[in-house]
Amino acid sequence: MLDAAVQYANSHRDSFLTELKEFLSIPSISALPDHQLDIQRTARWLVDQFTAIGLRHAKVNPTNGHPVVTAEWLEAGTGKPTVLIYGHYDVQPVDPLELWHSDPFKAEVRDNYLYARGSSDDKGQTFIHAKVLESFLKTSGKLPVNVKLIIEGEEEIGGPSLDPFIEQHQDQLKADVAVISDTHMLRPDLPCLVYALRGLCYLQVEVSGPARDLHSGQYGGAIYNPLQALCEMLASLKDRNGRITVPGFYDKVVPISKAEHQLLVRSPFSETEFMQDAGVKGVWGESGYTTKEQVTARPTLEINGLWGGFTGEGPKTVLPAKAYAKISCRLVANQDHVEIAELLQAHLKKIAPPQVTVEVKRLHGGHGALINLDSKYMRAAGKVLQEVFGNAPVYEREGGSIPVVATFQKVLGIDSIMLGFGLPDDGLHSPNERFYLPNFYNGIEATIRYLDEIGK
Ligand code: BES
Ligand code: ZN
Repeated sequence: MLDAAVQYANSHRDSFLTELKEFLSIPSISALPDHQLDIQRTARWLVDQFTAIGLRHAKVNPTNGHPVVTAEWLEAGTGKPTVLIYGHYDVQPVDPLELWHSDPFKAEVRDNYLYARGSSDDKGQTFIHAKVLESFLKTSGKLPVNVKLIIEGEEEIGGPSLDPFIEQHQDQLKADVAVISDTHMLRPDLPCLVYALRGLCYLQVEVSGPARDLHSGQYGGAIYNPLQALCEMLASLKDRNGRITVPGFYDKVVPISKAEHQLLVRSPFSETEFMQDAGVKGVWGESGYTTKEQVTARPTLEINGLWGGFTGEGPKTVLPAKAYAKISCRLVANQDHVEIAELLQAHLKKIAPPQVTVEVKRLHGGHGALINLDSKYMRAAGKVLQEVFGNAPVYEREGGSIPVVATFQKVLGIDSIMLGFGLPDDGLHSPNERFYLPNFYNGIEATIRYLDEIGK
C-alpha cells in the first residue's frame, strides 16, 4: 500500500504541479472585500478536488465570515487513529504589486521554485495533503488511517468564524491528532518540528484631537497634535533595553528555562543570515536574550502601521484631527491575548495627554501553544522526516502564530503535529512568495509515510 502510494505520487508530479497552479490562480485574499467571490470559488474548487480524489462528504460550510471546507474518509476502521488535517486556503494581499517579478496569481516556476501568492502559505502546503490522500485512494482504494479535513478561509485575518465552527462541530471533528503543514523547515535537507507557537494580540489605536483638520499656520503651536501625541505614546511603550513598559505585560510569561536556553543556543541559527535575509544593518531587541529567543520565546510589541494627517504627494500644511496606529504583540505561554489587550488599552488611555482622546479597537487575537514532544505522533513524525530528508528534525519554537493549534487543544483535546515543508526564505506575506518544488514533492512523500507509520 505504501510503495504503491509513493510510486503514484512520484509518477504524477507533473499533473500535481499543474493542479496546484490552478488552485493558486484564484486570488483568495481574505482581507479584501472585493475578493469575496474568489474566496467562495476557492472553497468550491477544494470541494471538487476532495470529491474527485475519493473523499466523502466534501462540503462548503457557510459561516458568518468566509466558509470552512470539510471532508472525511473514515473507512480505515475503529482500530486506526483518526487524523484531523488542517490548512488554510486564504492568502495575504499582494501589494506592492510592482515588486513581483511575475503575476502573483499566475504561478511560475523559476529555478525549482514555484512563485505565487499562497504557494507556500498555505495553499501549496495544504495541497500536499490532497495529493497524499489521492495517492493512497487511487492505488489501494483506502487510507491507512481515518481522516477528517478542515480547511479554513480566515487564517490570515485571524478570523472570528473558525473557533465557533469548531465548537459547534466538536463531534464531527473528533480525532486523535491534528496534522498541519503551515510552517517551514530550516534547510531543504533539515526538517523541523515546531513545538511552540506564539499568540497574537492585534489592536488599532485612534487618537482624536481637534474637531477637524486645521490650518497649521493658524493653529499650529497651541494644539496638542494627535500625531505627536500618538508618537510619544508609542515611543514610550518600550525602554532603551527593548523591554515593554506596559505594567503587567510580563506577569504571566513563562521564563526560558536553562535547559531550553541551551537547546536554543545550539539550534542552527545564524545571526548573519538572519540579518541578510531581513536586509538590516544590525539587530535590536530585548537585552539579555539571544536573537533566536527574541523571535520565538519572548513576547513582543510592534507598530504595524502609523498614519494620519496628509500623506499624499507634495505638501499640505495641515494639523490633523486624528492619528492612527496598528500595533500587535506576539505572546508566549501563558499570556492571554484578552488580558494583554485590556492591559494595553488601559495603559494607552492612561498615558495619553489630557488634550486628546484615545479609542482602542481589537482587531484580532489568538492564543499561543506548546505541544507535547513525547507522543507517538511526534516520534513518528521525527522518524519519517529523517527517512525522507536525510537528517533528524530540529525541534523549534515558531515565532509566528497558528491560532487553531490552541483551539484544537482546548476544544478537541488534541495536539497538532506541524509537518512544515516551507523554507525560511519563502517570502511569506511578501512579494515573490515561493515554494521550493523539491519540498512539495518530498513533503508529499513524507506525509504518505507519516500516515502509513501512524496507521501501523
Ligand atoms: N503560516 C503562517 C504562520 C507561520 C509564520 C509559520 C511564519 C512559520 C513561519 C500563518 O499563515 C500566519 O501567517 N499566521 C498569522 C496569524 C495571524 C493573522 C492570526 C501570523 O502569524 O501573522
Ligand atoms: Zn500566513
